[in-house]
Amino acid sequence: MKYFTTVNDVHSVKDLVEDALHFKKDPSCFSNFGKNKTLGLIFLNPSLRTRLSTQKAAMNLGMNVMVMNLDKEGWALEFEDGAIMNGNKAEHIKDAAAVIGQYCDIVGIRCFPGLLSRQEDYSEKVLINFMKHCSIPVVSLESATLHPLQSLADLMTIQETWNKPSKPKVVLSWAPHVKALPQAVANSFSEWMVKSNVDFTITHPAGYELNEEYTKGATITTNQQKGLEGADYVYVKNWSSYMDYGQINCRDEAWMLTKEKLRATNQAKIMHCLPVRRNIEISDQLLDGPDSLTLLQASNRVYAAQAVLKKLIDYRIPEGGNVRVTMGKEKNLS
Ligand code: CP
Repeated sequence: MKYFTTVNDVHSVKDLVEDALHFKKDPSCFSNFGKNKTLGLIFLNPSLRTRLSTQKAAMNLGMNVMVMNLDKEGWALEFEDGAIMNGNKAEHIKDAAAVIGQYCDIVGIRCFPGLLSRQEDYSEKVLINFMKHCSIPVVSLESATLHPLQSLADLMTIQETWNKPSKPKVVLSWAPHVKALPQAVANSFSEWMVKSNVDFTITHPAGYELNEEYTKGATITTNQQKGLEGADYVYVKNWSSYMDYGQINCRDEAWMLTKEKLRATNQAKIMHCLPVRRNIEISDQLLDGPDSLTLLQASNRVYAAQAVLKKLIDYRIPEGGNVRVTMGKEKNLS
């Protein structure tokens, strides 16, 4: 695997989850695998979990790690091909990514959407340009549209806590928020769930429909109570409107997940990727209660990243060819 940017980059989701669970049992089982290899972690946006868990995963594999908050510590980046750089952008992505590729064996990048132009955000301009010009394996640390490391840890969390022969019912439930947030976590959770052995429902207010590219196969309802009926897992997340791009069209506090709402569920476990706005998205009572899996999800981020980094270290350029830079469609160009 040269790229980890979407579930479609993964040959076998089942095997990758098993690898992650194996790393959880024995974190140092490949402690020399990344020896003398360098991971670069490039952040254009804030992070707590992704930064620390990916760094720890690399350390467990014996890798060296360099971290850079490129938005604050680097030069302002130009992305347009052929730009006459007479403005305030000091460095072209072509040069910045190519240089980072010289210093690292694998690079991770976090690049949130601007939420101003759907076309621009969904083109993944930053991530794709980075992949194109750095020439080394790339792991997404959350892009404009997807957050695959989070979704792998989420799937791992569901798998390790589910011990019945039947499929669990998993519900992604929209929650209110004070800010307009990306759709990335919701898109990503959905694209991983529809590829997994779960019964998957999404519930959100009208106007919060996600891009169908990620939700095909899910049951979708604007009736939250109906969506929650019989749920074994409720994944709570806010996202801004995809249709009315980047806007907040609903601030209805009634969508917050509370203990009362859970009566319709099958004693559901509560999930959230964090950071969470307490008592806006989910009540304290649920977050601090025995059915909250949020800490387990955060803990599993280390082992999910470890499984992914091992696959990226394993990558060898195919004989006689390069690999085309397209998210989820790795192809031999020879
Ligand atoms: N869940 C998650 O990605 O957390 P951070 O934004 O803190 O990395």
